[in-house]
Parts: sequence; structure tokens; C-alpha cells
Amino acid sequence: MQPVIHPIDVILHKRDGKELSSDEVQSFMHGVVSGEISDARIASLLMAIFQRGLSRRELADLTSAMRYSGEVFDSAFLQKFTVDKHSTGGVGDKTSLLIAPIVAAAGLADPMISGRSLGHTGGTLDKMETIPGYNTQLSLEEFGRVIQQCGASMIGQTKNLVPADRILYALRDHTGTVESPYLITASIMSKKLASDLNGLVLDVKTGSGAFMKCEEDSELLARLMVSTGEDSGTRTVALLTRMDEPLGRFSGNWVEVWECVDILQGRPQPLSADVIDLSLELAGWMIFIGGKAGSPAAGKALAHELLQNGESYQHWLRMVELHGGDVRVFDDPAAHHKPAASTVLRADRDGFLARMDCTEVGWAVQRLGAGREVPGGPVSAHAGIEMHVKIGDRIAIGQPLITLFSEDAALLAEPERMLRETLRIEEAAPERRQIVRSVITRNDL
Ligand code: URA
Repeated sequence: MQPVIHPIDVILHKRDGKELSSDEVQSFMHGVVSGEISDARIASLLMAIFQRGLSRRELADLTSAMRYSGEVFDSAFLQKFTVDKHSTGGVGDKTSLLIAPIVAAAGLADPMISGRSLGHTGGTLDKMETIPGYNTQLSLEEFGRVIQQCGASMIGQTKNLVPADRILYALRDHTGTVESPYLITASIMSKKLASDLNGLVLDVKTGSGAFMKCEEDSELLARLMVSTGEDSGTRTVALLTRMDEPLGRFSGNWVEVWECVDILQGRPQPLSADVIDLSLELAGWMIFIGGKAGSPAAGKALAHELLQNGESYQHWLRMVELHGGDVRVFDDPAAHHKPAASTVLRADRDGFLARMDCTEVGWAVQRLGAGREVPGGPVSAHAGIEMHVKIGDRIAIGQPLITLFSEDAALLAEPERMLRETLRIEEAAPERRQIVRSVITRNDL
């Protein structure tokens, strides 16, 4: 007979720095989901993990117990390599909208379960829901059918997917344990692995607009996520990427869809160059680990070709249609952008755009109406910003820097002040830095 594992012993073991056994982790998580373990005890274990960390084996066990705490997607019937991308959150980060159709066009399957805006960062679901009719709330059966027909589907988390994370996340939020890299890894990876991935490429942001501002912290998180993915049999790669300014031209909801449609239709604007490059890098790695190219560089070249020749756009149109979306809006995406109010922030001196606090820029976007005032509240489709310059650009006094959009003129003043204060124009040109800082694979662990 198995010995009974008491939750208090699990808490005491972790508190005292001992390694938990696989049975202890599983038994505790079973009690979390069944409701048998009190919030006080769950919170105590979370704090003990926050303080003591987890070994590689403990982290793999926790992630697995969370992954299988509810329903999971079974991708075997697709008979394709399933691969997805996950970003740790950024401003103007619309790469998912480009990557899903690119990798589908490459012959891979992308079961993409996305999130909503979180803190100062935007959310893929909020962006996709600005497409009239697009339904993000599919069952896992419907999700599978869409992927079978067009190679990709972008949906929200179903009610019963990884219920353990919902419980832990809510308690972390109340107990000062959100920032633990171990708990972040288990939270993100359990949800990603629940969609039954053969491969996963992680975009771990670093810099002023990232949740992890310092490169060392971002690298630790990237290593933990790669080892956890690999330990569960999913080929996992992490790219550490710079998030010091908004990616691309627009940040918001519909405006980001518009930017992506311009790119997919072969009409990219110069300010979209960084988001295109990052999307191709990430897609290149996905295509490589999916076996459709012999190297990440060859994968990137194939991703570029699939973007240029219109095949990615055809997959995008099909995916949107299968979700009930009205693709006629893509005939003239600019005409669908209907903010009630806008204003232009102009340069008050000559020089070079040197830097900004990108988190502050993200908050300005949220306060224009692109984010939520209350949990579960609505977001504005048309709020957002258009960047007219990038870090390193030469600036002339009076030149437009950013256009702000909102559905309510009263919401413009505060974000405009925030942006004016955070954009720094200096005499000397700053150093231009590569967007991809480093790549972490299983060989680097
Ligand atoms: N995103 C998640 O899903 N979980 C975390 O813990 C942090 C970011």
C-alpha cells in the first residue's frame, strides 16, 4: 500500500529545502484541483517554492501534474509535426498573427492557445477578436478540425484546460509569488504542453518592456522552460529577444491586425521591419525543428518565401474564415480603423531617439482603452498608437513621433503625458542592437 502523503509534510519538506518526490508533487496537486487542500496550505507551498526554488525533476513533475489537471488536446490524428511559439509578453508583439499562417504554409500544424492582455502587454486573443465574427472560444474538437483543414488555429484557453494553473495563479497574485521563475515556467509550460506539442519555440523578452527587465533573469527563465519542455518530450528552443521599444509600427488591437494584413498581403511598411525579422527568425526555428528545413537559417529563408509568395496569406484567410471571421475587412484594413479621437505627439528638440521605458509605453497603450479597466471587462478595438520613429532614428524638432488613438477623447491626455515623459531624444546616436540577443537549445543546458 502507498503511504499516505499529508500536505503539511510536503510544505515542511519544501520549506526546509528538501527535494520533493514525484509522488509528493502529484499528491499535492491532486488535492489542489479536488479542493481538498486549503488556500492557506497552497499559498504556503507557493511561498516555499518561491524561496527555495525547484530542482529540474521537481519542476518537470509540477509542470506535468498541472498539464494533466484537466482536459488536454490530443494531436495524434493530425499526423503532422505540431509546433507552437510562446512569447513572455511584449508591446506591439504581433508575431503570432504572422507565424501561425507561415508555419501552416510550411506544412506544420500550429495548435495555438493564446492569452489576453496582461499588465502592460497586449494579448493575441484581444487582437483576433477585433476581426468581425472571429470566434476564439472553440471546443478542443472544433480546434482540431480547424487545424486539420488549414494547419493552424488560434483560440483562447478552454474552461477545463489546466485548471490547476487558474487556482495557483490566483493565489500567486495575492501572495507575492508571481515572479518566481519556477512558478512562471510551470504555469506557461503546463498550458503550452496541454496542446500536445512536438516542438515549441519560446520568445523570452528582455529589456525595459519585458516582465523580466534584466538579461540574467530572462536567461534563467529561458533555461528552465527549455529543460522543462525537453524533459516532457517536446523539442524546445528559446530565443532571448530585445523588448526596448514597441515592435513594428502599431500597438493596440485592430491596428496590429491591420499591420499584419499589410505584411501578409506583401505591402509592409518600413516601420514593420523589426517585427517581420523577428517573426521570420521564430518561424525559421519552428520550421527547422519541425524537419522542414536543414537549419534555422534555411527555415528562415523558407518562412520568407512563404510570406512573399502569398501562401501564408491564403492560410490566414482560410483560418479566419473557419473561425467565422469576415475576411472582407482585409480588403481595406485601414478603413476599418475608426478611432473617435486621435492626437500626434511631436518632437520638442532635434537629436536622435535614444531610449524609452517600454513598459510605460505599454501602459499608455492600455490606458488609451486597448487594455482592461477591470478583470473580464471590454477592450477597445481601435485604441492604440502608431510609432513614426524607432530608437536610433534622427529626429527634427516638430517631427511626429507617435500618433495616439482612442474611442474617447478624454482618454488621450494622460497617455500623451506618459509618452512625452518617457521618450528620450539625445544629441548622440545610440548603439543599434540586434533584436535576437541569444538562442538557448537543449545543447546549452
Ligand atoms: N504567463 C503565464 O501564463 N503565467 C505566468 O506565470 C506568467 C505569465
